[in-house]
Amino acid sequence: MRNSRIAGVGHFVPPRVVTNDDLAKLMETTDEWVQQRTGIRERHYSEDRVGAADMGALAAREALERAGMTAGEVDGVIFATLSPDIDMPSSACVLQDRLGIGGMPAFDVRNQCSGFLYGLSIADNLVSTGRCERVLLVGAEVHSTGIDLTTRGREVAVIFGDGAAAVVLEPEEDPERGILSTHLHAEGKFAEKLWLEGVASRERPRLTEEMVAGDQPRVFPKMEGRYVFKHAVNRFTEVVKEALEAHGYRPEDLSLLIPHQANLRISQMVALGLELPEEKVFNNIQRYGNTTAASIPLALYEALAAGRVSPGDLVCLAAFGAGFTWASALIRW
Ligand SMILES: CC(C)(COP(=O)(O)OP(=O)(O)OC[C@H]1O[C@@H](n2cnc3c(N)ncnc32)[C@H](O)[C@@H]1OP(=O)(O)O)[C@@H](O)C(=O)NCCC(=O)NCCS
Repeated sequence: MRNSRIAGVGHFVPPRVVTNDDLAKLMETTDEWVQQRTGIRERHYSEDRVGAADMGALAAREALERAGMTAGEVDGVIFATLSPDIDMPSSACVLQDRLGIGGMPAFDVRNQCSGFLYGLSIADNLVSTGRCERVLLVGAEVHSTGIDLTTRGREVAVIFGDGAAAVVLEPEEDPERGILSTHLHAEGKFAEKLWLEGVASRERPRLTEEMVAGDQPRVFPKMEGRYVFKHAVNRFTEVVKEALEAHGYRPEDLSLLIPHQANLRISQMVALGLELPEEKVFNNIQRYGNTTAASIPLALYEALAAGRVSPGDLVCLAAFGAGFTWASALIRW
């Protein structure tokens, strides 16, 4: 067994910026309400007919370039998304086509806001067991085509944004460096606290007019916001502690915590619970909203660009999302 390391990070965010004031033209909301509850000022929406893998391919190309690799050298592809380009086949296969590569295993991880860390855990295992040498892991979402942009859907709609980011993993020979461990959890009894009911295989037919056009359309995500908020704060805090304790570390040993960008208020409460000063927690939700599977690698990309991560730093990535699912990864950079 050997460790794996993140050799390159890339990103792509669609150019169209949608501010809270822009949303206020579509629904009853205000910039003040959204910023006060979530910290979000703006998010990006993709152009028409741009899917998760279209954006993911651009992020992947940058990650590969930064790692000094060509797409053809990749021997494993994992795509984390809750908004695949099409129902089947996987966005990982669409991505292969966009990158002009093939032959290696490629599959999607559908685990919402924890999807990137579930993918990272699998990628780390593929590399550490020697099954793969270079794994491409992409997190990408197009939320803007799947949310209810009316007052009825405002609680969810204001939170989410589109974006993509990618990492490439390769072997790390130093046992003290790279991905030290990953920690994954799920509790399916909370599935209906944050969910999207249709289009569903248990419906016959899977898609009906009523699902789309009824008073309570089932083709949009639904969330019990306060319930999700409370669980998120607790699970984030627990799973960061779990990662640290597995290696005999305490919160003060951390150089940087990069939480999934669910809500700035959640990140702030987690920081408070772990007694971490503001400068040790990276947040960029203000400019992107919640980009789900893309949020952690997008934040990692910006943290690196801002010089907030240096060689030797102890970095923790943590996530919480629908399922409920939650996860963390501890990295010696
Ligand atoms: C969604 C969230 C921002 C709502 O904030 P909140 O403080 O819990 O707000 P409440 O649910 O108490 O709603 C307060 C009021 O604002 C209204 N409201 C909801 N969305 C609104 C919006 N976008 N603009 C204006 N008002 C809104 C509600 O209808 C409610 O009105 P009422 O009091 O007349 O019923 C918050 O619960 C949250 O962030 N939860 C976690 C979400 C999350 O992170 N999800 C992803 C997990 S990975």
